[in-house]
Amino acid sequence: MASYNDYILMAEGVCKSYGRGAARVEVLHELDLTVRKGEFLAIMGPSGCGKSTLMHILGLISTPDDGFVTIGSETVTNDNSLRTYLRRTMIGLVFQRFNLISVLNAQDNIDMSLRVRGIRPDQRTAELLESLGVSHVAKRKPSEMSIGEQQRVAVARALAHRPAVLLADEPTGSLDSASGHALMEILKRTNRDDGQTIVMITHSAELARFADRTVHMQDGVLIDHQ
Ligand SMILES: Nc1ncnc2c1ncn2[C@@H]1O[C@H](COP(=O)(O)OP(=O)(O)OP(=O)(O)O)[C@@H](O)[C@H]1O
Ligand SMILES: [Mg+2]
Repeated sequence: MASYNDYILMAEGVCKSYGRGAARVEVLHELDLTVRKGEFLAIMGPSGCGKSTLMHILGLISTPDDGFVTIGSETVTNDNSLRTYLRRTMIGLVFQRFNLISVLNAQDNIDMSLRVRGIRPDQRTAELLESLGVSHVAKRKPSEMSIGEQQRVAVARALAHRPAVLLADEPTGSLDSASGHALMEILKRTNRDDGQTIVMITHSAELARFADRTVHMQDGVLIDHQ
């Protein structure tokens, strides 16, 4: 039985709705989730079931209407400075469309992400690009990279500040099957070798097999979560 200390990320009783009055849609209904330190968790579910909504709440980009999120030993409150601090130090995010800054090359994208966190860029940027197999694009802007290369740079950027949890929202959504598998191998290696905790949303049961555990989301709750 895992103890409380084994968990790095928890959602308890999380509710979230959009819109008001008759247009109100409740997307998350008292959702509970626990993620253990060092776990690689996949979340699957039909389009529109609320996966990205959950990811944004876990990533402290948006706030739940009810319930709460715990990261490490910190229960996240509505205090903006605490949220910003935890988001910058504990969370690494990879989006489906990567959101790299188009005017910056790969290395500067990563270094910029470190600087906004008050971390002086060092050798780690080059090491990450090397370990993700994209050293050759270090000086290239996103428009000069393939989609797969952009996604690997986005993963490098999300890992650069050594986040406690890497959250990835359909990171393979824009990749072909071979690039998707290659990215999964990278995530698996990061999880296994560095003990990186990963929560990944995917539509692909095949890619979910790279994770230690898969939970399914339906009607705003996780249906097989224990
Ligand atoms: N800002 C918003 N305002 C109103 N409704 C929203 C908003 N964002 C999402 N929704 C609605 O909430 C529901 C859940 O959206 P969400 O993006 O979390 O789904 P998802 O599971 O990530 O879907 P997909 O697999 O297509 O990415 C959808 O019905 C969507 O239309
Ligand atoms: Mg989504």
